[in-house]
Amino acid sequence: MSAAEPPQGANSSPSEGSAAAEWVNGAASAGAPIAAEPIIRVRDLAVGYEDVTLLEHVAFDVRRGEIFVILGGSGSGKSTLMKHMIGLYEPEKGSVVIDGDDIVSAAGDARRAILRKIGVMYQSGALFGSLTLAENVRLPLEEYTDLESDEIELIARMKLSLVGLGLFTGHLPAAISGGMQKRAAIARAMALDPMILFLDEPSAGLDPITSADLDTLIKRLARNLGVTFVVVTHELASIFAIADRVIMLDRRKKGIVAEGDPRRLRDESDDPWVRQFFRREPEPMAT
Ligand SMILES: Nc1ncnc2c1ncn2[C@@H]1O[C@H](COP(=O)(O)OP(=O)(O)OP(=O)(O)O)[C@@H](O)[C@H]1O
Ligand SMILES: [Mg+2]
Repeated sequence: MSAAEPPQGANSSPSEGSAAAEWVNGAASAGAPIAAEPIIRVRDLAVGYEDVTLLEHVAFDVRRGEIFVILGGSGSGKSTLMKHMIGLYEPEKGSVVIDGDDIVSAAGDARRAILRKIGVMYQSGALFGSLTLAENVRLPLEEYTDLESDEIELIARMKLSLVGLGLFTGHLPAAISGGMQKRAAIARAMALDPMILFLDEPSAGLDPITSADLDTLIKRLARNLGVTFVVVTHELASIFAIADRVIMLDRRKKGIVAEGDPRRLRDESDDPWVRQFFRREPEPMAT
């Protein structure tokens, strides 16, 4: 396995300072068009742990340039699905084709080539607490490229500027707010210019305003750089703010129970459970 989990590190700290929000406002969405051609094709995927199958017959496409959201209740398998999509775990069955190559069956250099196309921010994944932001972003560049040290430094600074942290490159994670840490983690995930960024619960633990700023950043990166996003979240406000399309997982049905535009699902789904989720209504009592 070469997709190593990043370490646990510094977590949230005091709330966002206003000086750090400069990147949000200048962001115009130029609107790179979303292509119909899928960049990820998941087919007949079955995933689980040991002898428990969590999800089966999972099939969906992620289109190039879209923000694709995976949602579902706690324990429905969102993180598990994401970890299988990035090749961290081997599925019981099925394929995950990324930009034409199946990550499930790829090995060696072929696998490494696929991993170069993706960037990941794990649900638990934070920054290395003992390294500065720039040093954190340098890590994947040092591991995956032959670039000179000063070139790596330049790229690390560029990536941090891209997420509005150009003035904080020498800071340790503990010295910046939780929202800034998330942005730094996104900068690290983008170090190798991935085609696809996977973010697991990026706004967990953030206040609503910081979370909305993060949504703005994600949209800006998707629209301006053409990066495809696969985002796990259950924050309704985020879903409506960023998602081009969603899939919804249900543990009881062991699979996808809804797929499409979240607004249409909220207004038009035949499934009362799905409509309720999007309207934040309580689940009816089992009878
Ligand atoms: N490494 C593991 N080994 C065994 N079981 C696991 C492992 N990771 C997760 N599980 C179990 O699989 C189920 C799905 O977990 P998963 O983390 O994918 O859910 P989730 O939808 O991401 O939930 P949350 O919203 O709480 O993050 C849970 O019952 C969990 O306990
Ligand atoms: Mg999870």
